[in-house]
Amino acid sequence: MTLGIYTFYKSNPTQSQSHAKSAEAISFEMGHQPISNRNAYKKGMVQHMAQTISDTALYAKLDEFIDSLPSKQGALISVLHKAQDIFSYLPKEVQNHIAHKLDIPSSKVYGVVTFYSYFTMTKKGKYRVSVCMGTPCFVRGADKVLAKFESNLGIKAGTTSEDGMYSVDALRCVGACGLAPVVIVNGKVYGRIGEKDVDGVIKDFSAEVEA
Ligand code: FES
Repeated sequence: MTLGIYTFYKSNPTQSQSHAKSAEAISFEMGHQPISNRNAYKKGMVQHMAQTISDTALYAKLDEFIDSLPSKQGALISVLHKAQDIFSYLPKEVQNHIAHKLDIPSSKVYGVVTFYSYFTMTKKGKYRVSVCMGTPCFVRGADKVLAKFESNLGIKAGTTSEDGMYSVDALRCVGACGLAPVVIVNGKVYGRIGEKDVDGVIKDFSAEVEA
């Protein structure tokens, strides 16, 4: 990679010096590292570049959704739902991006994200199991449903599996009390769920994992 950058700048001396400097810095930094560290460094650089490219694609997807809205007024909640579907969580950078696109203050976006327990600022698994623990759900056995998900997936509420595939969370009322107890997996609502239904719900989204 360094040789490629060197060749490029040698044949294009007018190109940005700052870029040439960063190439030298990379070369210097790598040249003074043991081979194993250099490989780790290269791997880190490749991962960083892949991350940046995939982030760009995710932002483009979010922008496409926002731009397709007939009106941006009052669209914050649906945009946040879409953003969480796309990014799996709502870090500060994503919130700022949404504020900019909707032309509203970042503090307003932050206020909504922290008000609704469905929204999260912590990175979650690819499959996010949310068990409502509001009173109507709780009195109909949501605690047992939650415990069953925890034991079947091998993780505690509020955590994510090591492979990044699953996370389990306990939420406050999600506004569907008529269906209590309620479980939401990646936005799909499962109503009147009992302990005995947990295997079926897991099979439902596991089929997608295996496909
Ligand atoms: S308490 Fe669970 S949906 Fe309202």
